[in-house]
Amino acid sequence: MDTKILKTNSDGYDTASKILQSGGLVAFPTETVYGLGGDACNADAVAAIFAAKGRPAFNPLISHVATIDAAFDLGIETAAARALADAFWPGPMTLILHRRPDCPIARLTSAGLDRIALRVPAHSGACRLLQRFGGPVAAPSANPSGRISPSRAAHVMAGLGNAVDLVIDDGPCSSGVESTVIDASGSAATILRPGGVTSTGIAACLAAAGLQLARTDDSGSAPHTPLSPGQLASHYAPAARLVMNVTKPVKGMELIGFGPIGGDGQLDLTLSAAGDDVEAAANLFDMLHAADAVGADIIGVAPVPDTGLGEAINDRLRRAAAPRA
Ligand code: TXA
Ligand code: MG
Repeated sequence: MDTKILKTNSDGYDTASKILQSGGLVAFPTETVYGLGGDACNADAVAAIFAAKGRPAFNPLISHVATIDAAFDLGIETAAARALADAFWPGPMTLILHRRPDCPIARLTSAGLDRIALRVPAHSGACRLLQRFGGPVAAPSANPSGRISPSRAAHVMAGLGNAVDLVIDDGPCSSGVESTVIDASGSAATILRPGGVTSTGIAACLAAAGLQLARTDDSGSAPHTPLSPGQLASHYAPAARLVMNVTKPVKGMELIGFGPIGGDGQLDLTLSAAGDDVEAAANLFDMLHAADAVGADIIGVAPVPDTGLGEAINDRLRRAAAPRA
């Protein structure tokens, strides 16, 4: 791919917004790190983000929006979320909230979870892009999975240059440490990942509103540890039993096909008839939800090769198939 770099004194943000509208990927600066952005409501664009990063699993992504009102149009407001939003947005803070029933964010963006991650960044360039685009932009840090987060456009080019359509260069990020991720979906808030807003500041803000910061366990609550949903073996489990690598449907099974193995059952679902891993990733969580919703006893999934996003697809399917805790 021919990746363009645009300085912010050009018409970069209009171009970037058009690329997002057409399902493309744009790396853009925030005050924490550069993000690898795609339309959060377009599962194909979100699948392309995972493919570009080479993430071995579908870790849920943060959706970025321009205003606090826009955030609460997508996630259900709680007292804790309102207090934290008023104190720290726009800024380096991400809130986990229950999705509103009409929330258009793709299920792949939240890796199939019922709760979504929302952030209103403070960076002027990020704000311009989000305003111009008008919808939520899903963005993990713009680095290949497992590598150091990028704080300059040059880092993005070095790590992901071939996989993005456009990199907006607005100089180095001021913070370089990622946003603080806080579960504010319930009556007490919990810090899931330490970051740009301190726990002292969060506790003080909640206390002033008569609310509590729930303690995590004392193991240090490192990022991506127990509370990170992707790590829990059976977290993605549907109500039905899930069986992987099914080549022939049995009675009572909703078979989700892939490649040469077609779907079977009430819905006739196929992750990707063409055997394309990115298309399959985009469909995965929607189809699991759909199969569950028709009340199948067993959901079967045809074999998906472990190549490209197949690794992440199989990781999630193994978790969904794991014995329930
Ligand atoms: O500063 C930042 O947060 C940067 C910029 C680009 O905004 N983004 C970033 O994204 O660091 P990422 O994908 O590297 O980290 C997202 C974190 C992960 O720890 C993920 O588990 C958590 O947010 N997360 C996202 N959605 C979640 C959800 N629905 N429930 C719980 N945790 C979630
Ligand atoms: Mg990251």
